[in-house]
Amino acid sequence: MIIAIDGPAGSGKTTVARLLAEKLKIFYLDTGATYRALTYAALERKVDADDPQALGDLARSLKFTVEGSRVYLDQEDISQQIRHPRIDKAISKIVSYSQVRQVIVELQRKLTQGRDAVVEGRDITTVVFPDSKYKFYLDADPQVRAERRAKELQEKGVNINFDEVKQDLEKRDYSDKNRSVGALKKSQESILIDTTGLTIEQSVEKVADYIIPRG
Ligand code: DC
Repeated sequence: MIIAIDGPAGSGKTTVARLLAEKLKIFYLDTGATYRALTYAALERKVDADDPQALGDLARSLKFTVEGSRVYLDQEDISQQIRHPRIDKAISKIVSYSQVRQVIVELQRKLTQGRDAVVEGRDITTVVFPDSKYKFYLDADPQVRAERRAKELQEKGVNINFDEVKQDLEKRDYSDKNRSVGALKKSQESILIDTTGLTIEQSVEKVADYIIPRG
């Protein structure tokens, strides 16, 4: 059984998906982390961001491991590094190439093969697992999403300027929704959950109510 969750940055989907998987005691996959790991590797190895072929080859050659919210590239734990704003700035171009997405989508399917899982991202309900049993689209007011992202960065000790965070988020929203492959959109069957006024716990409960009927 796959529970697929899509939504923009700051919608709460990553935390909700992780807590839901804990509650259900099943595997959790943050697909954004797989694209972030590739972007990190591309920056470290100075692979040209304008060369989709080279990026596709790089994606094929990498050994990712995902354990809960920890991400490893070869043996290196890169969980912190992939959340840095320099990754946010570079990622949109890299994830727009079909040569890259094909490889990463296959990796995501492999990582969840034979498992019950909560999988979250941008194209999970539409491309990666369009036949999943449960489909959700999480969203929230853009100002609230930017505030959540700024808080997350602050807690990690990253020096940030709120306006810059908001602008980056708007840019990422635009490119996520408008790219020609794997664009972010709400599939017809997805249940819309607006998390604007909700706490994380309330958001998890809302999603869980569709999966575990209250007795
Ligand atoms: O969820 P996130 O912010 O960690 O995602 C990072 C970037 O990766 C985001 O800008 C869009 C991209 N992404 C994607 O294109 N497809 C996915 N399934 C997940 C993330």
